Amino acid sequence: MEFNIVVLGGDGIGPEVTEQSVKVLKTLEGLFGHRFNVHEGDVGGVSIDKHGTPVKDEVLDMAASADAVLFGAVGGPKWDDPAATMRPEEAILHLRAHLGVFANIRPVKVYQWLADSCVLKASVIKDVDLVVVRELTGGVYYALPKGRTETPQGWSAVDTMRYSEREINRILRVGFELARSRQKKLTSVDKANVLECSRLWRHLATQMSEDYPDVELDHVLVDSCAMQLMQQPKRFDVIVAGNMFGDILTDEAAVLASSMGLLPSASLSDVPVAGRRIPGFYEPIHGTAPDIAGKGIANPIGAILSMAMMLRYSLGLTEEAAAVERAVDQVLESGQRTADVAGGGPATSTADMGGRVASALGSAA
Ligand code: IPM
Ligand code: MN
Repeated sequence: MEFNIVVLGGDGIGPEVTEQSVKVLKTLEGLFGHRFNVHEGDVGGVSIDKHGTPVKDEVLDMAASADAVLFGAVGGPKWDDPAATMRPEEAILHLRAHLGVFANIRPVKVYQWLADSCVLKASVIKDVDLVVVRELTGGVYYALPKGRTETPQGWSAVDTMRYSEREINRILRVGFELARSRQKKLTSVDKANVLECSRLWRHLATQMSEDYPDVELDHVLVDSCAMQLMQQPKRFDVIVAGNMFGDILTDEAAVLASSMGLLPSASLSDVPVAGRRIPGFYEPIHGTAPDIAGKGIANPIGAILSMAMMLRYSLGLTEEAAAVERAVDQVLESGQRTADVAGGGPATSTADMGGRVASALGSAA
């Protein structure tokens, strides 16, 4: 089959890791007889520097008409001035809104071979397998009013947290459906003891649970969830959370996997069903990592696994997705480690890691 893939590497380590996921994707062409037409575009800080905007309309349109988008990361110290009128991060926020990808799926899988690289006890992380479903196009990230104003008493800033019933219900639906396809446990995260948005969220989750008698629903306050993720992560199967809570909890959950560099994500505009094609947006969760950018040492696995999620959810290539995941398993099992998980031992470069996954594909396919 033939597919059009838009590749937006962005800033920092974004382009380096994305190059490896494209390398692995291209290897699939020969193995499975597909054709992936890759179209590249500028986003983030590079786009501000070149075109004077974090993302051009043309790139937004190109992304919207593709079968899927592979995204790296945006941002960096160069564009971090709090007084700047434009930020690289606006690229990702515009893209998410433009594509309507309200459901961000962030699986957290613990690789037994990397247990030594984790700061937590092996007994705590053993067998952890959870997924965070994060609402991605609403809440405090987007709601208005938002902004800064100067008053006679000094500056004042406002962000608004707002959620409609429709926005909450559609993300809860993704959570329930995903839980139904897994261990049938859904944890709904909120701050219902303080926030009105959360009280509506909790009410709607309870209401929707009537449609899913086979799924066990519990409600956990976000602060308590943060603690439980470290103390007893095994209790979680699927976690569903609003935009900001999901953002924070997924960085924390990355600790379970030893490194943020390993975690993929998929952003979708509908309930994911393996084999059904939904246009989507795929990015590793790690960000631009300016401290290691350009050194060729970043971990490309988060990007490669994001590409595998793309195969599964946007291209309907379930078998190919599983082959990529097996190839990653194989390379990690064989002891290859990028610097983030090498614990000071010998480290594999970004390009070598990508190359090894690509070669393992031949035997894993
Ligand atoms: C993420 C990132 C983004 C977010 C930033 C770069 C805007 O942290 O994808 O988790 O907060 O959503
Ligand atoms: Mn984040």
